Amino acid sequence: VMSLPQTFKNNDKGTFGQFTATSRWPTIISNAIDDLQAELDTLEGGSQHFHDGQKIQQSLVELRKEVETDQAIRPFTAGEIKTADVPGSFNEHIASVAQTWHTGGWLFCEVYLYRRINVLFRSYASWREFDIFNRVKQSTFQSSMVGVVELAVRYQKLQSQLESADSEAIELLFKEFVEISLWGNATDLSLLTNATLEDIKSLQGEQARKASESKILINDTAKAWKQLQSSEHKRVDFVLDNSGFEVYADLMLALFLLDTGIVKECIFHAKDIPYMVSDCMIKDFELLLRDMESPDFFDLKQLQHDEQPGRESLAFLVKTLRDHIQSGCISFVQDSFWTTDLDYTHIDPSETKYHGAEIHKSLLDSALVIFKGDLNYRKLTGDRKWPRTTKWETAIGSLASNGLKTLSLRTCKADVVVGLPSGVDEKLCSEWESSNKKGEPGSWWSSSGKYAVICFCDGQN
Ligand code: F6P
Ligand code: MG
Repeated sequence: VMSLPQTFKNNDKGTFGQFTATSRWPTIISNAIDDLQAELDTLEGGSQHFHDGQKIQQSLVELRKEVETDQAIRPFTAGEIKTADVPGSFNEHIASVAQTWHTGGWLFCEVYLYRRINVLFRSYASWREFDIFNRVKQSTFQSSMVGVVELAVRYQKLQSQLESADSEAIELLFKEFVEISLWGNATDLSLLTNATLEDIKSLQGEQARKASESKILINDTAKAWKQLQSSEHKRVDFVLDNSGFEVYADLMLALFLLDTGIVKECIFHAKDIPYMVSDCMIKDFELLLRDMESPDFFDLKQLQHDEQPGRESLAFLVKTLRDHIQSGCISFVQDSFWTTDLDYTHIDPSETKYHGAEIHKSLLDSALVIFKGDLNYRKLTGDRKWPRTTKWETAIGSLASNGLKTLSLRTCKADVVVGLPSGVDEKLCSEWESSNKKGEPGSWWSSSGKYAVICFCDGQN
């Protein structure tokens, strides 16, 4: 057996991971402290709830200090494990390798960070279910109005066109909806904390998508199409990434698959805790529907054209979604597996402690399992230092051969990339090095969110 490369570490010089651990995490915690303050400002000063909130805020300040001063990654205490249902995989890993915030594994520490934050809220009854990232998730979805309305109108128009579409047209549309879902990931909140409405618009519009086609470095869409055409199963699974615009774009792809009869069921796998700032929980989907039907969540008067068509298309879309939920064609589920530290080689019959085997078994009934976004890609590849020309089938380990049909739709926001033809990385590195104005290392092209990869595997290697 070939030995696996190491995972990326927070002290790997010049990596985006190193930058993340030293600069992005403290900012993310600071933003959480501010957003908790905004919540506290709405509360009755003397209440227990208010005081507990203040204690959580103090603990967040301490956590930020812990990160900034490079303390050891400590195990969760027995009390924390109990009150917050912390999966045992965390402490098992911590017991197996000593690490600190600035020297530990990037992926492990990042997942651990969000679990530490969650533990703080779960320690107080009245804050248990509070989502510290809700404020930023909601306001960013609000800024996505232009893209949201554009897609809603597009979807409604498509209804009449679908009846007359031949198989070639349907395949072209499939390709387009895959790209919509792919680039829906470009605007993730942990990277775009300061994006303006203009920035977001330019990332989410149709023209932007067209221009971005050349930025898809690996494109296995045709293979995924063949798989859907030939599968005996009539179900697609989405392992979700972000809420708001991204899950909205994913729903578009799901609706297209359902409307065309390519599948009969779409299952969305959401997170069970507030996670990676923007990741989608089941309640975020419910909120999204409510936002879309609310008369004042989107300020449609801001749109250049008449607001009425947009309003109608949004209503049509919400009704279609609710009908599909009612009939069970679309469902949202969650599992603690997705927020453990375990990479996806554990989606396998051999992982019997943290639901890896169960998830594997249930996904065997799926025609295609679509993994959305950057973090899922990092977990698929183990966030390891693979040479960038490594074959996809090599990097995903057991998933290459345990029968699942998988598709990763990923805009590149981290150091790990595999599957590139030889010479491509060198070319992109030198282009990035000479064109970016911030003096970033060339290899950061892969963390810029400007490039994407679409990787398929039939699980039969
Ligand atoms: O890689 C950069 C990063 O922000 C990570 O910190 C996190 O893994 C990921 O991107 C989040 O992006 P996405 O929402 O696409 O998974
Ligand atoms: Mg995310």
